[in-house]
Amino acid sequence: MKYRLLGHNTGLAVSQFVLGTARMGKMHNGKSDPAEALQILHHFADAGGNFIDTSSAYQGGIAEQLVGEFLNPSKRDDFVIASKYCRTPLSTPARAAHGNHRKAMRAEVEGSLKRLKTDHIDVYFVHFDDGITPIDEIMRGLDDLVRAGKILYIGLSNMPVWRMASASMMAQWRGLSPVSVMQMQYNLLERTIEREFIPFAQATGMAVMAWSPLFGGVLAKETAENPEYADALFVLGQIADRLQKSRAEIALAWLLAKNTLPVLGPRTLDQLSGGLTAGDIVLSDDDITALEQAFAFVAGYPYDLLSATRHAAGYDGLGDNHYAVL
Ligand SMILES: NC(=O)c1ccc[n+]([C@@H]2O[C@H](COP(=O)([O-])OP(=O)(O)OC[C@H]3O[C@@H](n4cnc5c(N)ncnc54)[C@H](OP(=O)(O)O)[C@@H]3O)[C@@H](O)[C@H]2O)c1
Repeated sequence: MKYRLLGHNTGLAVSQFVLGTARMGKMHNGKSDPAEALQILHHFADAGGNFIDTSSAYQGGIAEQLVGEFLNPSKRDDFVIASKYCRTPLSTPARAAHGNHRKAMRAEVEGSLKRLKTDHIDVYFVHFDDGITPIDEIMRGLDDLVRAGKILYIGLSNMPVWRMASASMMAQWRGLSPVSVMQMQYNLLERTIEREFIPFAQATGMAVMAWSPLFGGVLAKETAENPEYADALFVLGQIADRLQKSRAEIALAWLLAKNTLPVLGPRTLDQLSGGLTAGDIVLSDDDITALEQAFAFVAGYPYDLLSATRHAAGYDGLGDNHYAVL
């Protein structure tokens, strides 16, 4: 297992693969039963994995309980546990109990600490932006949790980039704990975050965790159920066959090449092993280009205009990131 820093704002070394727990426990869309899930957690740890991603909402709190069961108190400090708040474990929580506000944040962190059987959460995320709570309330609330020792690092997930930028700048200018990491959906079939979020992360030094790295398993399959993806998946298959790797391994190796931390979602031990081997693959520039042409992503306005303008002004070669001023 290789390790990376959790962004440029921290000194915390995390495994380059994160183990996701959203489908652990057989409720809702749960795929692995508790015994299988514990085996997956142990296998990940034996392979050197130290970064585990969970949420109060996963499988009605069962996923956090499983992580709590897995965490041996004497080994707690060997692992980096990320959890999230917003939705609560309940499918229909009371109106005042969910959202991004301080009241929900406080109740949720206490619930997660109990289920995880720990006195602190290493990385605490806003799971979804509620679009209502002022950024000031969110950032001060999270900073208070850091100061109280209940959480160590702050993360944001599924939030518009302008809200993330407000949070990051507010933290910096007011001396609050910084936003160290974002967690967004990112994979060959969903590259939208390349437009705004990736440049923003590069400018601020935030780490990027990529959820659903296989687009829910679609990128691992030999045949495309959706004909729209058939041509791109064919190219992925060609590269995988030539390198004698699986499609899943190539899709994960591409995410590592993009300097992100893929959040794995294995259903079985074999899938976990198959995913981890992607950590040894170094894709050539030609293969990366071929993949990105097949799974094309159009940045659109204003980026096409800016690219042409910068080219005309002779800015080529000065670096793509002209906004590294935050
Ligand atoms: N922040 C958020 O809002 C958010 C949202 C979603 C997920 N997440 C995080 O991201 C994690 C992963 O998400 P995900 O479960 O959607 O990931 P995913 O890897 O895109 O999809 C998981 C599915 O892919 C297939 N698969 C996984 N590994 C494979 C392998 N090595 N070879 C072949 N097939 C493989 C399995 O499908 P089959 O069952 O069909 O075999 C598995 O059920 C979650 O557990 C959670 O921690 C976060």
